[in-house]
Amino acid sequence: MTTPTSSVQATSAANTIAQFASDVRYYMMLEPRQLPSRYLYDPLGSALFDAICWLPWYEITRAERRLLGAHAADVFRCVPSLSTIVELGPGSGQKLRMLIEGGDSHRLPVDVHLVDVSHDALTRSTQTLASLAGVRTITHEQTYEAGLEAVAARAPDQGRTLVVFLGSNIGNFDPPDAHAFCRAIRAALAPGDALLLGADLIKPERQLLLAYDDPLGVTAAFNRNLLMRINRELAGNFVIEHFAHRAIWNPSAARVEMRLVADSRQHVSIARAQIEFDMSADEPIWTESSYKYEAGDVERMLNAASFRLNTHWTDETAQFALFLVDAV
Ligand code: AVJ
Repeated sequence: MTTPTSSVQATSAANTIAQFASDVRYYMMLEPRQLPSRYLYDPLGSALFDAICWLPWYEITRAERRLLGAHAADVFRCVPSLSTIVELGPGSGQKLRMLIEGGDSHRLPVDVHLVDVSHDALTRSTQTLASLAGVRTITHEQTYEAGLEAVAARAPDQGRTLVVFLGSNIGNFDPPDAHAFCRAIRAALAPGDALLLGADLIKPERQLLLAYDDPLGVTAAFNRNLLMRINRELAGNFVIEHFAHRAIWNPSAARVEMRLVADSRQHVSIARAQIEFDMSADEPIWTESSYKYEAGDVERMLNAASFRLNTHWTDETAQFALFLVDAV
């Protein structure tokens, strides 16, 4: 017995230009200057990120797909009577589709909640899941936190809930925020519910730098596009050619840091953010941190958030891990 596939739009956006302007104003005035990495994903930025996932040097996506392909049925076995899946940041929806298709179809129907601030990502992922029988998608055009609260506030049913947070997106949070975010996920769940988390592991520096500063220049384009977005949406005057992409591995913080570095003195004006300043030659703007983990660090973080490890899978080179944990 399956319910027909359908799509429900639950809530709508708050990712306004005003928020972008005030974030740019705040973060660009910090020392060192920064920009929040979530703003990398306008339509072109999202397309460039999709392109990054095809690069031979960027292994996260392929490694995770292999693990999902191999262990989807195990995930469904480990979370009996699953009735609800919540994916935070579904992207194209391909990974969730792999998980559901590889799972045990007798457990359907299932409600799938997709949470993303990007309207485009919700449209694409809904489309990707549309042909799966017994799957009803509910979209939340919201931040992850607001989406989790909306899911937690819904009428309870008999089944269990699985939250899915893939792609090592956790790696964009600084450690205190990553811990708080795991607790926020746990707060939306009841004992017996579960979380499937993908995390990229620490690997040799040479490999990390190729993944974040690739020879084709796609990651450079992805990073520099943020200045294009500021020029377009906030009336900025960045001369893109004068900002170079840099990726460095910071071993003591266990993170790759992406920067945009001015090649010469630049006068910057961002009219809609009401800021104007000079940047000196070689001055960086810090645009992203991608934390890398030891498997034990992730487990400790999840334990501290009242999850207990159910299973953890690593790919054959032990460079990426999927953690399935139970809410206790
Ligand atoms: C989508 C945040 C997981 O940090 O690896 C890819 C984004 N940045 N190349 C990552 C990204 C540079 C990616 N995440």
